Amino acid sequence: MVEIDRIIAAIGQAASLDELEALRVGHLGKSGDISALMKQLGGMSPEDRKTFGPLYNGYRRDAEVAIAARKGALEGAALEARLAAERVDLTLPAPEAPRGTIHPVSQVMDELAEIFADMGFAVASGPEIEDGWHNFTALNMPESHPARAMHDTFYFPNRNSAGEEMLLRTHTSPVQIRTMLAEGAPLRIIAPGRVYRSDSDATHTPMFHQVEGLVIDKGIHLGHLKWTLETFLKAFFERDDIVLRLRPSYFPFTEPSVEVDTGYSFQGGRRVIGGSGDDAGHSWMELLGSGMVNRHVLAAGGLDPDEWQGFAFGVGVDRLAMLKYGMNDLRAFFDGDVRWLQHYGFSALDVPTLSGGVGTPA
Ligand code: DAH
Repeated sequence: MVEIDRIIAAIGQAASLDELEALRVGHLGKSGDISALMKQLGGMSPEDRKTFGPLYNGYRRDAEVAIAARKGALEGAALEARLAAERVDLTLPAPEAPRGTIHPVSQVMDELAEIFADMGFAVASGPEIEDGWHNFTALNMPESHPARAMHDTFYFPNRNSAGEEMLLRTHTSPVQIRTMLAEGAPLRIIAPGRVYRSDSDATHTPMFHQVEGLVIDKGIHLGHLKWTLETFLKAFFERDDIVLRLRPSYFPFTEPSVEVDTGYSFQGGRRVIGGSGDDAGHSWMELLGSGMVNRHVLAAGGLDPDEWQGFAFGVGVDRLAMLKYGMNDLRAFFDGDVRWLQHYGFSALDVPTLSGGVGTPA
């Protein structure tokens, strides 16, 4: 028995489209009860069919009409609810401009990545908690080496399971070793990151940033180093008159080692990079350390020094930022003063690109 009035009432009370669909399937679907009645018509005598045909067809039509009506009502209500929820009040004041800025250190690191990517360098990284082997020994500074004492290292109280002393890395140079060991040669990487030394005044903070550069290939020589640094500095300072002076120096991990100076002048009380330090009104400023990778370092990195050569350099990222954007106190970089960040920070949309300029203050 089909009680059509109860069916129609239930349809009219369906609380959701899902519930309504379940009712439709239960009555009008393949094995629905009204569908079952329709199937009986085929086996009836012509007289019975005359009586029951219109009746069952009526059930079906009534159910269909009721379902369509309920569906329309439920969909209408859903739309109303969405419209109410998504209403935008155009009389509200405009939202505040975003407050946050990109820190100059982050911005400069992005600039470096962009400039060096154009020369085929990938970005590599290593841990800030390092062991003595990667930070010193593999870089040709054995335990007795005086340079080891000169690094003002923060040590951890305990050694690691391999008996190595643990420390906060004092420079990004250990990433050279890690990358050589992990990837072999040839290589072209920069490794920007945080480094730590127990030192503190207007130009030194216990944590600061360096970027390491490393190129390993066959037949690499100092000329490649000089061209790379010149090209990088021209792009970074966005001027063509960058003049470099290479001075012989000493780092345990390079042989020969060179200190790289760049010419600058004072303009409006600011140091502006450019020109030769020997030009009138100019001087030389020491900018970075570099050299040809020492054979011992290549060997520690698992490479055959008779087969591979390379150059490396290390430079302070904070110092690059100060020179380019005219800050004079390094400590302010890490004070978290919102006014300083507002003044020297960059818009999140100011993504450095070589074509659009690698950096314009916000
Ligand atoms: N690691 C050195 C430092 O922190 C900087 C440096 C000098 C890195 C010469 C180099 C290099 O890769 O070749 O003082």
